[in-house]
Amino acid sequence: MDIFRIEGPVQLSGVVNINGSKNASLPIMAAAILAAGESVIKAVPYLSDISIFSQLLGQLGCRITRSPNGDLCIDSRVIDNPVGEYEIVRRMRASICILGPLLARYGRAEVSMPGGCAIGDRPIDIHLQGLRELGAKVHLKNGYIVAETPNGLTGCDIFMGGPFGSTVLGTANVLMASTLAKGKTIIESAACEPEIVDLANCLTRMGAKIDGIGSPRLIVEGVKELQPAEYQVIPDRIEAGTFMVAAAITAGQLRLLDCRLDDMMAVVDRLRNIGVTVEVADGGCVVARRGSIKPADITTLPFPGFPTDLQAQFMALLSIGEGNSVVIEKVFPDRFMHVAELNRMAANLRREGPTVIVAGVKKLIAAPVMASDLRASAALVLAGLVAEGTTVVNRVYHIDRGYERIEERLNLVGAKIFRESAESMAGGLTSKISERVEK
Ligand code: EPU
Repeated sequence: MDIFRIEGPVQLSGVVNINGSKNASLPIMAAAILAAGESVIKAVPYLSDISIFSQLLGQLGCRITRSPNGDLCIDSRVIDNPVGEYEIVRRMRASICILGPLLARYGRAEVSMPGGCAIGDRPIDIHLQGLRELGAKVHLKNGYIVAETPNGLTGCDIFMGGPFGSTVLGTANVLMASTLAKGKTIIESAACEPEIVDLANCLTRMGAKIDGIGSPRLIVEGVKELQPAEYQVIPDRIEAGTFMVAAAITAGQLRLLDCRLDDMMAVVDRLRNIGVTVEVADGGCVVARRGSIKPADITTLPFPGFPTDLQAQFMALLSIGEGNSVVIEKVFPDRFMHVAELNRMAANLRREGPTVIVAGVKKLIAAPVMASDLRASAALVLAGLVAEGTTVVNRVYHIDRGYERIEERLNLVGAKIFRESAESMAGGLTSKISERVEK
């Protein structure tokens, strides 16, 4: 297990390329199951989540290769084992989005039921309800969801709203299944996230008939078969937002290339409110902060609201703001593992249910901290950039799931982050202790 040693404070300045979106790539990789043949997906980032998903598709029978130019090629001609094994699903919940495409193409799928995770309970009841309404028989057996379509899938009207709004991967699952269902499907309260728009655009390229893309009502006219396609995923808006906060928290200036501000209006609005400038520049934007950070209220919501995947990073930023801010989490009300860790770095955060009151402090102070999930670890790295002293972030494998070589990219614009193996740190500690014992 690696750790990050971060020397702070630093001020960032320079240019950063934003990679392809992880959360768009995963369902688009699953969509390759729908069409027998070789799909080519461009701009898929090099991340551990992508490797795990490739392993999952490999277990089904697909052949996955990276061409020298980085394209991800998925040959789904042979799928002879429509099973999502526990060993993979327990490592990555997004594995659930093979369920819809497997059902649509094979009429049968078994996928391990995802368990809890660091950001909350994360049930999948709405996914299963939607697939049942399309005609699937679904039951649970030894921890596996077993879904079958004895009579094929048939289009229908499906309402996909839940207690926390729409569901992103639930919409992906039902949308993919409905492309090959008989007749027309209306998906009401569909997720409108840019990653779902990207999936729908990719499915359309494959021959699916989908109206209302980007709206909460998707209308799908089922077709007999889909063809493999070549498709380029959108840039990662969450990675872009994280680098925006990196510029803001260090009072620096970053130019982000390949960044779609259209997908980030709520984020840009909050940044400007806080006193950060965000200017459109060729192919991206320039983000900078000169004055102090003003307090702000942030409520996470499904798109086009403020994304839950940037809540932790903004909390790190607001923690050195000038006054009191309020952060309300309405998508994953328990997604606050970073709160206690940021407090270890001298932030002043108080949680009350799904709300955190952020009392701004003058400075953060370095400490050893523990990453608990992908976005929480990003928040700790951001805090480490401005904390006084050496911050050690443990369990950085969480951050490798969603940010490609983040330390190298931040170091290129002025950060001082060192990746070390936890063993070498522990080894160092053991030798210090034995030295002391000898003395
Ligand atoms: N929900 C239900 N029932 C369901 C499905 C969801 O009650 O059947 C609830 C969830 O518990 C949650 C809310 O609905 O309270 C929204 O969950 P959603 O299903 O939209 O989340 P997801 O599809 O599992 C994706 C992203 C997450 C991101 C969320 C919200 C991927 C691979 N994951 O998860 O990304 O936070 O949408 O935008 O696309 C991340 O990248 O760090 C990450 C966690």
